[in-house]
Amino acid sequence: MDIANFEFNALHLPSPIEEIYDECWNSKGIQVFVKRDDLIHPIISGNKWRKLKKYLQTFSLNTHSGLLSFGGAYSNHLYALAYVGNSLGIATVGIVRGDELYPASNAYLSQMNEWGMQMHFISRGTYREKQIPEGYEDYVVIAEGGFGELAIQGMEELVSEIPACDHIYTAIGTGATAIGIAQYYNGTVNGILTLNNKTEIEDHLKFYPRPNLMIDDQYIFGKYAKQTILLDQFCEEFRTKYNIAIEPIYTGRMFYALVDHIKNGHIAPNTKLVAIHTGGVK
Ligand SMILES: Cc1ncc(COP(=O)(O)O)c(C=O)c1O
Repeated sequence: MDIANFEFNALHLPSPIEEIYDECWNSKGIQVFVKRDDLIHPIISGNKWRKLKKYLQTFSLNTHSGLLSFGGAYSNHLYALAYVGNSLGIATVGIVRGDELYPASNAYLSQMNEWGMQMHFISRGTYREKQIPEGYEDYVVIAEGGFGELAIQGMEELVSEIPACDHIYTAIGTGATAIGIAQYYNGTVNGILTLNNKTEIEDHLKFYPRPNLMIDDQYIFGKYAKQTILLDQFCEEFRTKYNIAIEPIYTGRMFYALVDHIKNGHIAPNTKLVAIHTGGVK
């Protein structure tokens, strides 16, 4: 199947946008909308499609043999890449961190193996060097977590689907999504850090200056991926109230920050916010 057919037949695009209501913001005349990119597809959902699409198009335009990327044993990014490669008949290679791992180490890796991803399990030391194993020189290389120029450009389409508003909220992992949104959208982008990687994001911003991107590092909640009771409860209450599933790593932190910003008076009355649901719910 080619990319355009896959997009048309298998993906829910443009993704829906829904308003959510709460006395806490409606009493101030603030409107909150959720851009439901999580509904794009059960696997290649949220920001995954937005970030990969232009890499897939690059593959199809040129004489590359496949797509290669890097990630950990539970990488959503590698998982999405393996899936889309299998759907489109494109060879994929995953350089996986951890030489103790093998395809049956967990359900993710075995599914990626079934989808035909060629996996290389390498030591943490070697992984840091991000070397490309011999034989893959003509592969399209996508950086860890899908960060890169083409991922950033992939946000143009997302922004084109968003109605006029005052702020866009999004979670930050590698920063590709937030930097891309800030490139194509003129209002304020509130990027909520989920990892302790502010320096890495600031380094990216030296190459991609985005004066309208406000990075907030107050919602990391300690160690990356640590599912604190507070965040778990917040996600559960959010799901019960709005029938929208969120998870504590990315979207849970982002919505928590958004609500906190409103409660603390950081958001002016009568403004319109759009929060990007970047997926990630298993
Ligand atoms: C569900 C989800 N939301 C947000 C992000 C952060 O996106 P980015 O890496 O583009 O900052 C990720 C990581 O890629 C993710 O998996």
